[in-house]
Amino acid sequence: MRVGILGSGLMGAKLGTIFARVGHEVVFSYARSQDKLEKLAREAKGKAQAGTPADAAKHADVLLLAVHWSRIDDVLQQAGDLSGKVIVSCSLPMNADNTKLVVGTTTSGAEELAKKVPQTHVVCAFNTVPSEVLFDVFAARSRAKKPSLVYCGDHSRSKKKAAELIRDAGFSPVDAGPLRIARYTEPFALLVAQLAYEGEGSPEVAYRFERFAE
Ligand SMILES: NC(=O)c1ccc[n+]([C@@H]2O[C@H](COP(=O)([O-])OP(=O)(O)OC[C@H]3O[C@@H](n4cnc5c(N)ncnc54)[C@H](OP(=O)(O)O)[C@@H]3O)[C@@H](O)[C@H]2O)c1
Repeated sequence: MRVGILGSGLMGAKLGTIFARVGHEVVFSYARSQDKLEKLAREAKGKAQAGTPADAAKHADVLLLAVHWSRIDDVLQQAGDLSGKVIVSCSLPMNADNTKLVVGTTTSGAEELAKKVPQTHVVCAFNTVPSEVLFDVFAARSRAKKPSLVYCGDHSRSKKKAAELIRDAGFSPVDAGPLRIARYTEPFALLVAQLAYEGEGSPEVAYRFERFAE
């Protein structure tokens, strides 16, 4: 696939690198320095290049949206016409200092994003994983037991593309349902972050309860 990266920070840089390593054509865009984007493209060691958000969007089969909530309007405006595009968003609707969600319960960041770009297909994915584990999960991808990763969206062909990228990154994709389920996955992402960054012993979080009933 051709994957445009909108936001080449902690999430976008790592996921873009992983996607390039499995053979996707990647365009890294949207960082404060062009040098950084070019370095990422060189070091991805695949079919990767640096570009503008418009370059990333131009021929993309999938766009990974990985910017802070406050940068969404800016990056979308720079990306230009996104009609018909699949946007896989890992962006969480956080306040400026990343201490809390600014929307929730009756809507979600993913749904608000979909309202901003109604001509696109938004899939919410990768938001429940801390960026720090991405390379380790990718390195262990040939193991039979893979960590589950939830995603949701309303458009089945777009969800298939997201599931393929989730699999490529070394996770087992779990279809959590329609985009409105992001109302629950987004706060869940904060729980995961709390456990990852502030908890002790990094417990594995089990959410496939039927396994315990066997
Ligand atoms: N990090 C995580 O573990 C994690 C986990 C789950 C979800 N998320 C969500 O994923 C999204 C991305 O998170 P992240 O941690 O990857 O953020 P990040 O590291 O801050 O990356 C954001 C990217 O946007 C770029 N950017 C910011 N302001 C810009 C500007 N004015 N002009 C051009 N580029 C600009 C940054 O440039 P620079 O590279 O120059 O800084 C960076 O490449 C967020 O919505 C976050 O809530 C993050």
